[in-house]
Amino acid sequence: KPYVIGLDLGGTNSVFGIVDSRGDIKATTAIKTQGYENADDYVNAAVEALQIIIDQVGGIDNIKAMGIGAPNANYYKGTIEHAPNIKWGKSIVPLADMFSKRLNNIPVAITNDANAAAIGEMAYGVARGMKNFIMITLGTGVGSGIVVNGQLVYGSDGFAGELGHVTMVRENGRTCGCGRTGCLEAYCSATGVARTAREILSSSNEPSLLRELNPENITSLDVSVAVGKGDELALRIFEATGKMLGEACADFATFLSPEAFIFFGGLTKAGDLIMEPIRKAYESHVMNVFKGKAQFLVSGLDGASAAVLGASAIGWDINRESK
Ligand code: BGC
Ligand code: NA
Ligand code: ZN
Repeated sequence: KPYVIGLDLGGTNSVFGIVDSRGDIKATTAIKTQGYENADDYVNAAVEALQIIIDQVGGIDNIKAMGIGAPNANYYKGTIEHAPNIKWGKSIVPLADMFSKRLNNIPVAITNDANAAAIGEMAYGVARGMKNFIMITLGTGVGSGIVVNGQLVYGSDGFAGELGHVTMVRENGRTCGCGRTGCLEAYCSATGVARTAREILSSSNEPSLLRELNPENITSLDVSVAVGKGDELALRIFEATGKMLGEACADFATFLSPEAFIFFGGLTKAGDLIMEPIRKAYESHVMNVFKGKAQFLVSGLDGASAAVLGASAIGWDINRESK
């Protein structure tokens, strides 16, 4: 039976799935994304983990292609370029070729992680039947996949849709992993939310469950848990985060007028607690012509599998093209 490998390569974890043509994930494995001196070491670790699940589906001869979703991926060139959150020593990594060489020369395609999630949602999730929507990932970084007229937007160089790096704060903005300041990602990624928590905690004495934690180690998940318990200060952190995301989406609406904004990634596990502030800020900020139109949805697949399935979908595409 033919299968493809889908890889969701995130800033923290890399999740691999072996997927059949109906989108059923037959086997999965995962490794850390960081902690390697260079990309070769990463690929070695990946291939070692993959070997086990490849054997589970009858060996490499059954694997027809591989699709990868990764930050700062160049779909046209098969590379990852200048990724703020991946430290493998080099700024340009030809990851598609590297995997192909190690996997019997199967065709390998790579696209942005959020693009892969958008494709996954279109094929198997809440975006089925949608023609115009924006997928937004809230994880280690903030990424997006933009779909217009049913097509992913790649732009002139394959990099279109880096909405995590729109400038939201023009004066004294936080530094961003991309080397600039004030980016949406610096505030609304998992690390951005943790940073907001530290700022708010140190600027007041207001009681909060978060004060029981070492401020240095606070994560967005801690904030989420505190919000769930009704902690006022944590709620304000989510409101500030949601406000910035909603206002950013209001700007994106002026470019694309999408029918939906679909969110996935760690933060969305908080459900309405984060989605309500986003939607509220959007509606109060967006141009009148757009008010009340766009849906705000959470991924119908859990974050990782949307990206794995989306990556596998581009794997099936390149399998067809390479014939
Ligand atoms: C990268 C994007 C990526 C996002 C989520 C950002 O820092 O620039 O390419 O989609 O993180 O991983
Ligand atoms: Na993108
Ligand atoms: Zn940035």
